[in-house]
Amino acid sequence: MKPDFENKKNFFNLNNNNAIQTFNLTKKFGNRTAVNSINLAIQRGEIFALLGPNGAGKTTTIKMLCCLLKPTAGEAVIMGYDIEKEQLSVKQIINISPQETAVARNLTIMENLLLMGGVYGINKHETKTKAQELIELFGLSSRTKELAKKLSGGMQRRLNLAMALITNPQVLFLDEPTLGLDPQARKAVWIQIEKLKGNTTIFLTTHYLEEADALADHIAIIHQGKIVAQGSPAFLKESYSGKQTMMIKASGITDKIINTLKEKYPDVRKSDNQIIIQAKDLDFESIVDLMRGEGAKIKWLSMKEPSLDDVFLKLTAEEKN
Ligand SMILES: Nc1ncnc2c1ncn2[C@@H]1O[C@H](COP(=O)(O)OP(=O)(O)O)[C@@H](O)[C@H]1O
Ligand SMILES: [Mg+2]
Repeated sequence: MKPDFENKKNFFNLNNNNAIQTFNLTKKFGNRTAVNSINLAIQRGEIFALLGPNGAGKTTTIKMLCCLLKPTAGEAVIMGYDIEKEQLSVKQIINISPQETAVARNLTIMENLLLMGGVYGINKHETKTKAQELIELFGLSSRTKELAKKLSGGMQRRLNLAMALITNPQVLFLDEPTLGLDPQARKAVWIQIEKLKGNTTIFLTTHYLEEADALADHIAIIHQGKIVAQGSPAFLKESYSGKQTMMIKASGITDKIINTLKEKYPDVRKSDNQIIIQAKDLDFESIVDLMRGEGAKIKWLSMKEPSLDDVFLKLTAEEKN
């Protein structure tokens, strides 16, 4: 496909305050298109989540943005630098915590951090000060002298985050930062990521929906290499699902109650002593008033807000058809 240069000019000019922008970024491996012409615009200081199932193209996108893989087509700019033409400048302002936790198992926490500083040519004194700061920040102070192999998976992941931050990156890429961690360890990593918010632009990938929902200012859902939706978590929920669910258990549910409810909410189901209503804006007080007014006795009720799961399942299912 021929690039649309006019469009591209507008895209880049209009968003020159963004930390990351891609324009039709594409990667093919032989016949397989792993990343298919994606356009992303990520603001400075925000947490952006690229959300998608396994094999969707998340790691491939990150590798291109980190200059580890050459794009087949398209372009990307990080803090104003072109990822192909200005690789050196890009590499100086980014860092990555890769999908596979990469710590030197036989070195201590401090040694791992010093090693990383050395790799990037930062002077020893400066690295040490920064390392101490990061050890504090990531709650690793009590284990500084311990070998990395003795740490739990969650702590290794936190060390990995700290290692990526030793260079003070302006843009930090986190590829599946909580992969394989138990819920408690995941929460601990989330807390650390949230602490970085504002100062560092964070691009994270995940296939955990609740992770994206909890952390991200802006989410793009990728499926089979294509971006199928993007926006804030609230926007995605509102646009692609948006339905609340109300379940009511009661005795004395009459046909009149059901018919009156159906006039306002077409999606009303009844089974035994239970009513389930799904709609965008449920006015639960008026529903309760109506039922009581008609003599029904409510025993129990619950409300469920729309979730990102609904959005994700909807979008990825539609694509497959
Ligand atoms: N080096 C490679 N050679 C061939 N195919 C690859 C290579 N890396 C990734 N792929 C394929 O590209 C697709 C996207 O992979 P990836 O970006 O790793 O997905 P994700 O990180 O979302 O799980 C998959 O179908 C994967 O098999
Ligand atoms: Mg991956």
